[in-house]
Amino acid sequence: MAARRIPNFAFEYVEGGAEDELALRRNRLAFDQWRFVPRTLVNTDGRHLRSRLFGRELPLPMVIAPTGLNGLLTHDADLKLAAAAARAGIPFTLSTVANARPDAVAATSGGCLWMQLYWFREPAIPAEVVRRAEQAGCEALVFTTDANVFGHREWDRRSYRGPGQLTWRSLLDVPLHPRWIWDVMVPRGLPRFVNVADFFPPEARSAKAGVTRIPALFGATIDWDDVARLRDSWPRRLLLKGILDPADVERAVRLGCDGVVLSNHGGRQLDACVASLEVLPEIARAFGDKITLLVDGGFRRGSDIAKAIALGAHAVMIGRATLYGVAAGGEAGASHAIEILRSELDRVLGQLGCRSLAELSPSMLRAGAPTAPAQP
Ligand SMILES: Cc1cc2nc3c(=O)[nH]c(=O)nc-3n(C[C@H](O)[C@H](O)[C@H](O)COP(=O)(O)O)c2cc1C
Repeated sequence: MAARRIPNFAFEYVEGGAEDELALRRNRLAFDQWRFVPRTLVNTDGRHLRSRLFGRELPLPMVIAPTGLNGLLTHDADLKLAAAAARAGIPFTLSTVANARPDAVAATSGGCLWMQLYWFREPAIPAEVVRRAEQAGCEALVFTTDANVFGHREWDRRSYRGPGQLTWRSLLDVPLHPRWIWDVMVPRGLPRFVNVADFFPPEARSAKAGVTRIPALFGATIDWDDVARLRDSWPRRLLLKGILDPADVERAVRLGCDGVVLSNHGGRQLDACVASLEVLPEIARAFGDKITLLVDGGFRRGSDIAKAIALGAHAVMIGRATLYGVAAGGEAGASHAIEILRSELDRVLGQLGCRSLAELSPSMLRAGAPTAPAQP
């Protein structure tokens, strides 16, 4: 539905990965390499999906991942996603390059809000993002570490003939989506990067100019000293997102971070990169009791979530799955996407003979080659 409802250039922005999209595909294949060995004849009536994350009880072990430019999919998409997350009782993470400010999200959604931080070259921007996040009552700051250099998303780039300039083919596709024009373009035009645009000169504050300016803001200088500084200044939960190396998890523990998100950025940054699920077992064994472990990348089924929890994740982050929902049907669509994942996870838990997520363990999984694609 999402693919039909929004123009191609907007769908490709969501869907695409870096270069040959190897990491994007590997994120899905990694799940297929694990199979369950269910326990049978266990009474699982009354099973539940509750878990604890940073002292908060969650009805299911899920957090909405930070994604930028959501307003391209539907008007006020950040607010709609946050409202759906609040209704489901799970945290929502607002991106630095979102189209809503954290105070606006906090005021309207009323749920648990996290803020993602890109440490841009212009130091006033991260400082202001952190200040706004603290003022808005964000419970966690998620510092994205795998975006020191902007990823090369060729599929997305094919929609443009120059910076911010759609190709004729992409332009001609837009009028075929009158509902999107009415929803996104008519109210206020293309969405602005409201958390960073104030720092641009007035002539560069439009959405179009922002799209071309932002990649240049990614700072190759970010390093562990920035984490140490953030740890000193940010009083609430601090997570690092984009970690895949066990040695980096160890550093995060040493610097007093509260959590890490094992992630390859949904396959949008380093293409020849492991899937986070591949490194999860090793990291969970070494650090599962020292730091909170979240994992993201390719979660599309409840069984994917069950596998990650069985392998030692404390919770998972969901990126595109809820974006498809919000693009297809606004807040109700995002709620529906969450409900699909919740109901699937509940069903899988029952079929595995588990009464709670705590009963999932690596012993219920066997590794093997991915299943061959179905014959047409
Ligand atoms: C359209 C889109 C925009 C994204 N923007 C951001 C962002 O602004 N900050 C960030 O840390 N990660 C961003 N990500 C990565 C997600 O937070 C997450 O790591 C990824 O989407 C997980 O993979 P999945 O989409 O397969 O669930 C983005 C991902 C997508 C698909």
